[in-house]
Amino acid sequence: MSNSIFRDTILGKKTERPPVWFMRQAGRVLPSYLKLREQFSFRELMQDPELTAKVTLLPVDDLGVDAAILFSDILVIPEALGMELSFTDKGPVFDQPLHLMSENFPKLKPDTSKLEHIYKAIDIVKNKKPADVALIGFCGAPFTTFCYMVEGNSIKHDFSKAINLFYNDPKTSDKIFELITELSIEYATSQAAHGIDTFQLFDTHAGLIPSEIYNERVLPYVKRITNAVREKNVPVIFFPKGLGNGMAKINFDIADFVSIDWQFSLTEARQLIDKKVGLQGNIDQRLFSINNKSILEAELKKFLSFGKENQNWIFNTGHGLSPDNSKENVQFVIDWVKNTNWNRN
Ligand code: CP3
Repeated sequence: MSNSIFRDTILGKKTERPPVWFMRQAGRVLPSYLKLREQFSFRELMQDPELTAKVTLLPVDDLGVDAAILFSDILVIPEALGMELSFTDKGPVFDQPLHLMSENFPKLKPDTSKLEHIYKAIDIVKNKKPADVALIGFCGAPFTTFCYMVEGNSIKHDFSKAINLFYNDPKTSDKIFELITELSIEYATSQAAHGIDTFQLFDTHAGLIPSEIYNERVLPYVKRITNAVREKNVPVIFFPKGLGNGMAKINFDIADFVSIDWQFSLTEARQLIDKKVGLQGNIDQRLFSINNKSILEAELKKFLSFGKENQNWIFNTGHGLSPDNSKENVQFVIDWVKNTNWNRN
């Protein structure tokens, strides 16, 4: 293994500075991505392993991040379970959302061949990427995936039909969680077999339900996925967005690292969460849209004392980059993290 700041940090070794990468770093701010999108649909970029590998590595080439995240989507799991999906200008839309069928529970059947092209992309990225850059694999956590499958789209952010089914019909909900979990384990462990360095589990909508209920009814499924991956010797980052104080239950039995959203204080998260668990996050990515570097730099400086004291920390945003973030600001932040003296000893 070559020296990689990302791998060293995630494995608990000392480094001079925190590693830096951003959620949604490939597909939102890069002119090189937007140019490819003029030629290919999002679907084509996701489906063709050569193109997927190329997009995965764009932020490494163009921005100099310490890790690449596989270019795919969390909704490949519902698709591999047999649901028809289109990516529209209003986001993802399923033809037959499960809320329409809650009485006749549909026959969702896993078809693992639909995921093969993703493993091919991993093989290509592994061959092409610089040795010191880590490759992060991912999938959606069962609750967020359930929200999309039941609701059918993300036009309304409350996912009310999905939450209704979750409360009203725990038995059906559990069946859906079970199906998602089983296929996600197969998917995640196959990514591990193909050589990803780290795996991130995205629970973007964890904050839609009370944290006690989340921890009781959803966390056991999360734990099954994360531990299946960890058994393959691949460390896991878990991102339970909006879980708030519920993160106290995310100990080392669940994950190696927890990604903190921008609403929660990083120092308070450090006090709340098991010390063995590393943290990732959590600058507000909306600061990357403002046209004022001194405000941005003042916010960055607030991370200095945390970064001096905490080796097991990955610099990242509180959520994904968005198309209105400026590439120039994103570059400024990456360079700042890399060139700052973090005064570690
Ligand atoms: O850098 C990257 O973009 C990495 C690859 C990646 C995508 N989606 C590509 C994508 C990752 C890690 C995801 C995860 C994902 N997808 C999540 C969890 C993380 C998060 O950001 O909250 C969720 C909830 C989804 C579902 C999804 N896919 C939505 C809601 C949308 C539309 C809104 C949006 O964010 O653009 C997508 C489409 C999508 N996924 C695009 C990309 C690049 C946009 C496609 C395009 O038009 O170019």
